[in-house]
Amino acid sequence: MDSILVEKSPPLSGEVRISGAKNAALPIIAASLLCDSPVTLQNIPNLADISAMERLLCSMGMETRYERDEGTLEIDPSRVRWLEAPYDLVRKMRASFFVLGPLVGKYREAKVSMPGGCAIGARPVNIHLKALEDLNIELEVEHGYVVADGSAMRGGRVHLEFPSVGATENAICAAARAPGESVIENAAREPEVTDLADFLVAAGAKIEGQGTSTIQIQGVDNLSVDSYSIIPDRIEAGTYLAAAALTGGTVQATHCREKDLTAFLADLRNTGCEVNVEPDGGLDKITVSRPGPIQPVSEIVTLPYPGFPTDLQAQMMALLCLAEGTSIVKETIFENRFMHVSELSRMGADIRVEGNSAIIRGVKSLSGSPVMASDLRASAALLIAGLVAEGKTEVLRVYHLDRGYEKIEQKFLGLGAKVERVRAAVPSK
Ligand code: EPZ
Repeated sequence: MDSILVEKSPPLSGEVRISGAKNAALPIIAASLLCDSPVTLQNIPNLADISAMERLLCSMGMETRYERDEGTLEIDPSRVRWLEAPYDLVRKMRASFFVLGPLVGKYREAKVSMPGGCAIGARPVNIHLKALEDLNIELEVEHGYVVADGSAMRGGRVHLEFPSVGATENAICAAARAPGESVIENAAREPEVTDLADFLVAAGAKIEGQGTSTIQIQGVDNLSVDSYSIIPDRIEAGTYLAAAALTGGTVQATHCREKDLTAFLADLRNTGCEVNVEPDGGLDKITVSRPGPIQPVSEIVTLPYPGFPTDLQAQMMALLCLAEGTSIVKETIFENRFMHVSELSRMGADIRVEGNSAIIRGVKSLSGSPVMASDLRASAALLIAGLVAEGKTEVLRVYHLDRGYEKIEQKFLGLGAKVERVRAAVPSK
């Protein structure tokens, strides 16, 4: 398994171009199943998770063409043969579960493996299933699979007990082609959910309220759109901007959107950073610099959008490890998203976990060491911690990073970081 060797680096400086959003691309690729003709998706990042979703669609008989360098993915949904998402594919990437709504929405049937849990939590799908049942879809869970019968499905009132991103996305896709009107209450408001809805509207769906907690949908019989461009990845942008803050440099993230990062940028300012936003042709250039010491933040609480994003919690914690005082980070979205704490502590951080809160007492410096994480955002946090740690840090299991960060070492090298991918020795025969 490859690893990334990180050395203490000078303050990062320069521009980094932000790629398309993984968490918008995945549900939109799944939703292309709903279309009746080929669609070309643009601004698609070159990521392992995108390849995994492409493999899933191909396993159903769809034809695809993924031009990684151009960032385009052509999908022809007209040749679907099998309405099944097998365990072997779903277990490797839980976002595969997002094909359930589109399959039953278009074909009125589906058989999708239950996704397993993962390192950050059990990640059940009860809210997804309840949402589909609210649309009169009959579901059976047998032998680890969800078997859906949508022969009697119709629009209806869907109330989500929690604004789950994935459950909202599955519900939107099923309702988009369900006869009649649907209302999704307590819907997730994440920009990626809005992008999915906007993609379907571009294909002729009748959806209103995306981005708010109440989404109205009028089912239609046909959906078709030639091409659609994915929004920028706010989590990737936040990761590089956190690295700028941590190293005390000045970094400009281009082709991103400030409105997707308001909570994160507000807390970055609270740590003593300067944040400048420059509109640039419908997108933004966001520049972060840190003129003085890192200030502690009394409490950062992860919340559903527009609150502080859980996917930037680990990166913010890495920054607070070197603050001049004590900060608290409270994780309210996932039940086990502090695995990076033990690894940061091995690097010399002073962090104590009490329930779903981490108390971070700033230290003067970190020391490099071999570290590993079991989720892609924690891995990113350990990489940026390595940029300021004395000596060398080797981030193991770099496949986590490759799932969610396109060209990560090239982009960091472009900012002056001392990083190098170390290829695992291929075991001799
Ligand atoms: C999406 O996951 C993202 N993944 C996650 O990003 C992100 O952290 C998460 O939303 C929250 O913003 C993709 O979009 C592919 P949820 P999702 O359903 O949809 C519980 C990354 O690093 N829950 O909003 O799975 C769940 O266990 C990934 O890119 C239920 O209990 O998140 C969790 O505690 C990590 N029952 C909370 O809700 C359900 O049926 C939020 O989950 C569904 C969810």
